[in-house]
Amino acid sequence: MKKLVSWITMSAAVTVLTAAIALAADPAPAAKVALGNTDCVKCHAAPPADIAANGAAHKSSVSCQDCHAGHRPMVKNNIPQCGQCHTGKPHYNLSACLRCHNNPHTPKIIKLATNITDECLTCHTQQIVKLKQVKSKHTSLACSFCHNVHGKIPQCTQCHKPHSADMTAAECKRCHQAHMPTAVTYASDTPNKMCASCHKKAFELHSKTETKHKAVACVTCHKEKHKMVPTCQSCHGSPHPAGMLARFQKCGDCHNTAHDLNRWDASVLKGADKGEPVTPPKKGKKK
Ligand code: HEC
Ligand code: HEC
Ligand code: HEC
Ligand code: HEC
Ligand code: HEC
Ligand code: HEC
Ligand code: HEC
Ligand code: HEC
Ligand code: HEC
Ligand code: HEC
Ligand code: HEC
Ligand code: HEC
Repeated sequence: MKKLVSWITMSAAVTVLTAAIALAADPAPAAKVALGNTDCVKCHAAPPADIAANGAAHKSSVSCQDCHAGHRPMVKNNIPQCGQCHTGKPHYNLSACLRCHNNPHTPKIIKLATNITDECLTCHTQQIVKLKQVKSKHTSLACSFCHNVHGKIPQCTQCHKPHSADMTAAECKRCHQAHMPTAVTYASDTPNKMCASCHKKAFELHSKTETKHKAVACVTCHKEKHKMVPTCQSCHGSPHPAGMLARFQKCGDCHNTAHDLNRWDASVLKGADKGEPVTPPKKGKKK
């Protein structure tokens, strides 16, 4: 800022100096009057109007002549470089500032092309880390392909269909993060029906079971991370004598699957309803 102030002071001095030289060189000095900021509007309509409407700091912190020192024909080029005043941040080392800040008289109105990534990283450093950490098809998209207006957050459903008709755009976040969409995780209150959109069979078996697993949510067993499969022992420890488990090594040999546990009352034992003899598995506990 100090640099800026001294530059402005200097440019003002130069203006005065230029005027003085002009006066000295002119044989009829009374005809020359230094150009002031209020004069510009007499010949230039748009810049003063733009600045008045959306000048932001270019309205409040600098004047026309701070940027435009001198005027044709006396001064051939009075168009400033942004870098005259903006220095000291990586962002100010970019090239062609006017690509995004299209109009210097409305500096906060920014237009973004749809292929911008590197420039965003001069200010935002976190998102690219995630995009690279878990590579997905989003990694190869440009930041501004999704954020085509600065600061705007797009909805996932702008580009993707939900997994089921009753799933809302706000719910995508429950399982996905925008910058690492394939690392699917979910909280412990995620309802079973959200899994059902892709796992119909598991959902149907589980909703029909008459065992106590019916009350256990999908995500209580398949905890936090997609594709996590628990062992039965992680919840039940070793419920039977070791000798028995040495003979029947898989819990499923007797219990079928977690979604569809066998029930031990005779009526639902396999074969019972067909009138076949029932041979319940040997067990280490009372019935
Ligand atoms: C009497 C009319 C008049 C006034 C007052 C005037 N200008 Fe201009 N300005 C012109 C004309 C005419 C041109 C085009 C000159 C040319 O193309 O050679 C011009 C060109 C410019 C340009 C473009 C220069 C370029 O290289 O393309 C800028 C910037 C500018 N004026 C800024 C200002 C500012 C700032 C003020 C007030 C301090 C101002 N003008 C006051 C008539 C004026
Ligand atoms: C922060 C610096 C800055 C300020 C303040 C500023 N301008 Fe400019 N102005 C520029 C730049 C940079 C350009 C060149 C834009 C380009 O190359 O497209 C420009 C271009 C112009 C032009 C020529 C192109 C055009 O748009 O007609 C005129 C005239 C002009 N300014 C007038 C003014 C007037 C009048 C004011 C005050 C009301 C003013 N400017 C304030 C930076 C500034
Ligand atoms: C004569 C000095 C000067 C020039 C030249 C200049 N600026 Fe600025 N600009 C300032 C000052 C002073 C501020 C307010 C303090 C700050 O943000 O550094 C500012 C602020 C801004 C802001 C933030 C606006 C706000 O209200 O927050 C943007 C964006 C900006 N400038 C872009 C540019 C671009 C792009 C150029 C070149 C086309 C440019 N400036 C040229 C002096 C200048
Ligand atoms: C790829 C687009 C892009 C380019 C190129 C670009 N900017 Fe920016 N600039 C932005 C965005 C986006 C912001 C953030 C605006 C906000 O905070 O609302 C910004 C903010 C600013 C700000 C105000 C905030 C700050 O951190 O100072 C200034 C000043 C600025 N730019 C100056 C420049 C200058 C000078 C250049 C050229 C060296 C430039 N910009 C090039 C997009 C761009
Ligand atoms: C000059 C610095 C600067 C540049 C360059 C910049 N931003 Fe920003 N961005 C900001 C600031 C400052 C904010 C507002 C502060 C905040 O909400 O975190 C912001 C906000 C955002 C937000 C909204 C954040 C939220 O939590 O709502 C998004 C999205 C965003 N920027 C994306 C981008 C993208 C994409 C680019 C490149 C096209 C970019 N930004 C370039 C400074 C910048
Ligand atoms: C502006 C469009 C856009 C937005 C917004 C968007 N995506 Fe994508 N997404 C894409 C494109 C393009 C692909 C690649 C499609 C392809 O190649 O088949 C993709 C791919 C994906 C993939 C598959 C990734 C892979 O590597 O297989 C997932 C998952 C995904 N998106 C989830 C999301 C989620 C969740 C959101 C919201 C947080 C979201 N997307 C927002 C455009 C978008
Ligand atoms: C596939 C579309 C897509 C791409 C590509 C993308 N984003 Fe995002 N971004 C989003 C969505 C959607 C959100 C909202 C996330 C949320 O609400 O949890 C977001 C959020 C943000 C935010 C707000 C803070 C945060 O991290 O949640 C910033 C800043 C941001 N993105 C910057 C970037 C930058 C920088 C890039 C490029 C390196 C980028 N984004 C690439 C879709 C995208
Ligand atoms: C209950 C968790 C969950 C929710 C909520 C969720 N997703 Fe997914 N999504 C997944 C899983 C799991 C995958 C598959 C990952 C795999 O194939 O390994 C996936 C895959 C995707 C894919 C990649 C292509 C495909 O269909 O396989 C896209 C795109 C996607 N989701 C978008 C969305 C959108 C948009 C929303 C919000 C409307 C959303 N997701 C909500 C869990 C979820
Ligand atoms: C967008 C579709 C989608 C959603 C939503 C979804 N999944 Fe999956 N899931 C898949 C796909 C695809 C596979 C891989 C199937 C394969 O490899 O045969 C899979 C595999 C699995 C596996 C098996 C892993 C293995 O090693 O066999 C489990 C467990 C699983 N999902 C649980 C869940 C749970 C719990 C939910 C709800 C929180 C859920 N899924 C939501 C698509 C989805
Ligand atoms: C995330 C923990 C968890 C996992 C993993 C788990 N269970 Fe369960 N299981 C439970 C809970 C909770 C109950 C109900 C306990 C109660 O209410 O007494 C239960 C009950 C049972 C019952 C009694 C059913 C009834 O209706 O009386 C059997 C048998 C059983 N589990 C077998 C298994 C088998 C076999 C596996 C592996 C395929 C397994 N469990 C995996 C938590 C789990
Ligand atoms: C009591 C714990 C438990 C519950 C509740 C549970 N699962 Fe599973 N799930 C398992 C176990 C353990 C396996 C491994 C196969 C086995 O031994 O049954 C499994 C396997 C799977 C598989 C792999 C393929 C298959 O179908 O066998 C998918 C997909 C799956 N579960 C999805 C779900 C969904 C969706 C829900 C909710 C509707 C759910 N699970 C409820 C424990 C559970
Ligand atoms: C040889 C067949 C067989 C095998 C193998 C087997 N079980 Fe069982 N299990 C049974 C029978 C029969 C019962 C019913 C006992 C009852 O009704 O009290 C039972 C009951 C249970 C119960 C319910 C206990 C209660 O107090 O209600 C759980 C939990 C259980 N088994 C878990 C497992 C796990 C975990 C494994 C694998 C490590 C396993 N079982 C292996 C036959 C078996």
